[in-house]
This record gives sequence, C-alpha cells and structure tokens, in this order.
Amino acid sequence: MNLLLIGFGAVGQGFAEILHEKSARLQERGFAPRIIGVITATRGGLYRRDGLDIPALLAAAAAGSFAKYPQQAGLRRDVSAQGMIADGAADALLELSPTNLETAQPALDSCLAALEGGLHLVLANKGPVALAYPQLQRAAQARGRQLRFEATVMAGTPVLSLAQEALAGCAIVSARGILNGTTNYMLTRMEAGMSYEEALAQAQALGYAEADPAGDVEGWDAAGKALILAQALFGAPLRLTDLAVSGITQISAADIAEAKARGERIKLIAELSAAGGEVRARRLPISDPLAGVSGASNALTLETDLLGAVTIVGAGAGGRETGTALLNDLLAIARAENR
Ligand code: HSE
Repeated sequence: MNLLLIGFGAVGQGFAEILHEKSARLQERGFAPRIIGVITATRGGLYRRDGLDIPALLAAAAAGSFAKYPQQAGLRRDVSAQGMIADGAADALLELSPTNLETAQPALDSCLAALEGGLHLVLANKGPVALAYPQLQRAAQARGRQLRFEATVMAGTPVLSLAQEALAGCAIVSARGILNGTTNYMLTRMEAGMSYEEALAQAQALGYAEADPAGDVEGWDAAGKALILAQALFGAPLRLTDLAVSGITQISAADIAEAKARGERIKLIAELSAAGGEVRARRLPISDPLAGVSGASNALTLETDLLGAVTIVGAGAGGRETGTALLNDLLAIARAENR
C-alpha cells in the first residue's frame, strides 16, 4: 500500500517510526505499506514512486528541512499535494497537518482531491471531519473508497471502532469524558505543584499540544473531538455553535489546591448527546472514575441502550500514540480490501 502524508510533525514522525519498527512483522502478515510522498508547510516536500527511506526521512525532519534528505533515483522535491495525488501511484492519503476548526482548509481540499482521485483517506487532522464529514463521506462513497479517522479522537485508543464496530448493535444515547491530553496532563502536573506555564511548555515538548496550543487550553480541541463523536456516535452533524465551550485558562494552582483539599479534582469534561453538549472544567469528587484519569490519558463513557455504560481509557495524545491509530486504520482498510 503506497502512502502519501500531508504533514510531518509529531504524529507523522511517530507514525513513520512505528512503520519502520514494525515493517518485518507487518510484511509477515502480508501488509507492506510504503511512504512514497510527504508534503509539509515548513520542511518542504519529497516524492518518490519507489518509496522514501524512513530513517533518512526522520533524520531530515529532525534537521529541520527535507533539503537534508539524500538524493535518490526518481526523487522529486517540488511536487504539490495535488500533484502527488494526480500522479496515480498512491493508494491512501494520510492527512496529518495542523487542525483548522474554522474552515478545515487547506486540508479539506486535499482530502476531497484524494477521494475523488480514488485514494483511501485516513485523518489525524480533526478539522475536515469535524466540519465537513457528510461531504467527505459522500465523496468516499462515490468512489468506493474508505474514510477512517480513529486518530482524531483519543489518539490510538480505539474509541470510534469501539462505538461503530464493537457496539454496532447498540444505540449510544450520550457520552461523557476527557478528550484533551494536553489539558489533562497540565492539570495533573499543576496538582503536583508545577506552574501553568511550565506544564504547558512540557505538554508542547512531549508532542501533546496542537501547533497553536490555544486550541487545547481554551477547550476548542475537545470541542472539535466532540463534533467528530457526535457524527460517529449519533449520526448528528452538530456545529461548534451547538456546544458551550470553555477551557482551563482561568484555572489557577490555588483552585487546584483548594479542590484537592476538599477531596476533589478539576478536569476538563466534555458531555455530549445528539442535541448538543458542552466542554468545561468541572470539579469531580475523587471517587469519580474520570478523576483518576491522569497525565495525557483520556477517557470516554458511552451510555448505551443495551449494555448500560461502557468506558474506555487510554492514551489521548502523543506522536506515537496517535500514529498507532493511523496504522490500525490502514490495517482495517487492507482487511476490507481483501474480503
Ligand atoms: N492536542 C491534542 C490533545 C492532541 O492534547 O489532546 C490529540 O488530539
């Protein structure tokens, strides 16, 4: 399976590392993915029909520019995303560029071009799914291609496949959880005495935060994930205006200490139903299972009609943690193609 990547930040690099480490094991299972093209906003682009060398790609990214990638036969450095798609050698596009929750662009145009060009589409970028899922789904169906986006919510923790595949016979009536790794990490570190600024800087250094971390701390990242969940869980095309959104910018170390003294913890909680929802910081009693979710972990409780509450807890952010979802989505595409 030949892959194009748009974006090569923490997630793209984490995915490439995993692919390289697991390549022998994947080949034993009859799955041989190759990265043939990568386009970035800041490091340049690379395209080679016979595949790019992953260690060299990672080294060039670490050095800050794909100009450091060694010359190889058939290598092109000047292709656009549309040019790579139009060349016809790729099987899937991985959209991993920074999320834009206002317009979903420029990613949305690349996603539509990929589907219209007959490629499968896998996203870690939340914008196109949160704002334009029906349009993407129509384009995918028109060409018989797959659209997968497990990486957009709770990193590699398989919350979408849980809801859509494992619980396919249930109706999900509501959901409540922690959907942002950066803020959960910050709140955990602040309870241990770290300042807001230092905790945010660490979350950025660990690859948890968005390119612009305002989206994390103001609640918009969790809200974007809530829109994706509304679509995936309830088939409800909600908009950001259907959600009441606030973040943790107003939370001080003193608030956290006071909550702790009362046997409570402050968490950024998302609540969602088909009618709308909210994202806001709440004080939870320490006995609430969500109060025990720490660091960059996330959790989501699904209220189902047949099974009651089902809760999933796991990684919520991080390059390799999110790259894991991309690999699992690609394996799902390969399984469906071989059926
Ligand atoms: N910035 C996001 C978070 C990354 O912290 O949860 C994962 O979507």
